[in-house]
Amino acid sequence: MKNRSLISINDYSKEEYIKILDLAAEFEKNPDQDILKGKVIATLFFEPSTRTRLSFESAINRLGGRIIGFTDATSSSVSKGESLNDTIRTVANYSDLIVMRHPLEGSARHASEVSSVPIINAGDGANQHPTQTLLDLYSIRKTQGTLDNLNLFLVGDLKYGRTVHSLLMAMSHFNTTFNFISPVELQMPNEYKIYLDNLGLKYYEHLDFTDIISRADIVYMTRVQKERFSDPIEYEKTKNTYVLKNTMLQNTKPNMKILHPLPRVNEISVDVDENEKAYYFTQALNGVYTRQAILASILGLQ
Ligand code: CP
Repeated sequence: MKNRSLISINDYSKEEYIKILDLAAEFEKNPDQDILKGKVIATLFFEPSTRTRLSFESAINRLGGRIIGFTDATSSSVSKGESLNDTIRTVANYSDLIVMRHPLEGSARHASEVSSVPIINAGDGANQHPTQTLLDLYSIRKTQGTLDNLNLFLVGDLKYGRTVHSLLMAMSHFNTTFNFISPVELQMPNEYKIYLDNLGLKYYEHLDFTDIISRADIVYMTRVQKERFSDPIEYEKTKNTYVLKNTMLQNTKPNMKILHPLPRVNEISVDVDENEKAYYFTQALNGVYTRQAILASILGLQ
């Protein structure tokens, strides 16, 4: 992992996922250390973020590193027409590692090809969000005691949701049974179904999950990604298709946990928040430890 960019979850092997999760568990026990002293990390967010940016920044601060960057591309020379290529080549001169979120699919890979320092993809359009996936794996292993042989329900916007695309690829290593619950317009793209077919893994597609939620180990809810729709009427049609309510959790498995990458809009009712099966805020906290492990591994400091 040392000095390698993290662009797609498939850039890491199953063994490397486990190494990151084990290291994250160590950081959870002792999150305040000085191992990034003298390191400068750039965070370039061309799209809005709360959890990804701030958990990276918390991770860096707790490890004694320093941060440069922007949260709004209009405050950078991108607004004068500077290319991504030139921006990355310049910022790479000022930093030891770049964390980047960008609306264009493939932008993170492109950045890694022109950068002299490693790039961490913090989300590129509807494509991939690998650090979210590593914190999702951490959360799943922590709550289930294993990553193997689980029944995973992915619910909501499976077309534009980059977190479910990365999570599907990662969980394909662990003999997962996949259930895809989405409106027809937001189904899991064919390329991901073909990916599972080629691995001989089972997946099932559903329009509703009220009658089958009792089978789930993990229910992974997602927001309908308004910002990816070209037609606002299509967004309005699909935005409230699924709303998880407390009453739906009565006959679920004792081990079942509800995950959501957040932000949430309407897809989980607030009455679920106090249910012991709601795990999404702890999942967001796990992002700090997991991102500490990713930074330490890429910078060769673990
Ligand atoms: N999960 C996630 O990517 O959240 P943010 O958009 O707030 O970073």
